Amino acid sequence: MRITIFGANGPTGRLLTEQALAAGHQVAAVTRRPDSFPLHHDRLEVIGADVLDPAAVDGAVAGRDAVLSTLGVPPAKEVNTYSQGVANIAAAMHRHGLRRIAVVSSSGVDPQPYSDGGFLFNRVFVPFLTQVAGKELYADMRRMEDLLRAGDLNWTIVRPSALYHLPEVTDYTIVEGHADGMYTSRTDLAASMLAMLNDDRYVRATVGVITTTDNPTLFRWIRREALAGK
Ligand SMILES: NC(=O)c1ccc[n+]([C@@H]2O[C@H](COP(=O)([O-])OP(=O)(O)OC[C@H]3O[C@@H](n4cnc5c(N)ncnc54)[C@H](OP(=O)(O)O)[C@@H]3O)[C@@H](O)[C@H]2O)c1
Repeated sequence: MRITIFGANGPTGRLLTEQALAAGHQVAAVTRRPDSFPLHHDRLEVIGADVLDPAAVDGAVAGRDAVLSTLGVPPAKEVNTYSQGVANIAAAMHRHGLRRIAVVSSSGVDPQPYSDGGFLFNRVFVPFLTQVAGKELYADMRRMEDLLRAGDLNWTIVRPSALYHLPEVTDYTIVEGHADGMYTSRTDLAASMLAMLNDDRYVRATVGVITTTDNPTLFRWIRREALAGK
């Protein structure tokens, strides 16, 4: 399959690109910084493009079969990369006759208590992240989700929990709606998105993806991910 990956130069996007190449796909990896993209392969084309530039997005989508997006930005006062980016991608997909798209969103868009979360995670950390620090970011993810739901593409919205690193793909859990797990490894997130290209079960569905093996402690996750700006 010929796949365009937006956000390909982020930590999840690089794993997704690697996995897609290993699975035999033809990959167009989109990044604003093509010189810093670390992967090389004869089935890989690295495309320098800003997802907020409709013409550049058009060029990255033309001639492909499907789009995967692991786009991400840090929390800020104004965020439009998710919604405007996906609006540009959807418009380009319509122009070029593509139907299938899977995008990363977040469990923070519709936060619900986790059975293992405890007071600190459920009542302090998540509300602070989703209603204060990341308020505008989650609002823009919500706009992105609404835009896809209102359109006629074959979309899947993938909501991971707190992301962390594991070297290998695990036996991850994927469910429609809320997944009751605090963590998702980026390898599992990438693998779940790639698997969707050959599986129609989650077309026009919002899914939660979680990893249940080798989870970090909350302290370790905050030290490795939140404080590292990831
Ligand atoms: N961290 C968590 O615990 C967590 C939890 C749930 C969901 N998520 C979400 O999961 C997704 C993936 O996260 P991640 O940490 O792997 O990646 P990330 O660091 O958030 O970002 C992925 C990439 O998006 C690209 N990007 C940003 N703005 C762009 C633009 N205007 N045009 C083109 N590319 C752009 C950047 O690449 P270039 O600079 O190379 O263009 C960046 O490396 C994000 O949406 C994140 O919000 C994260």
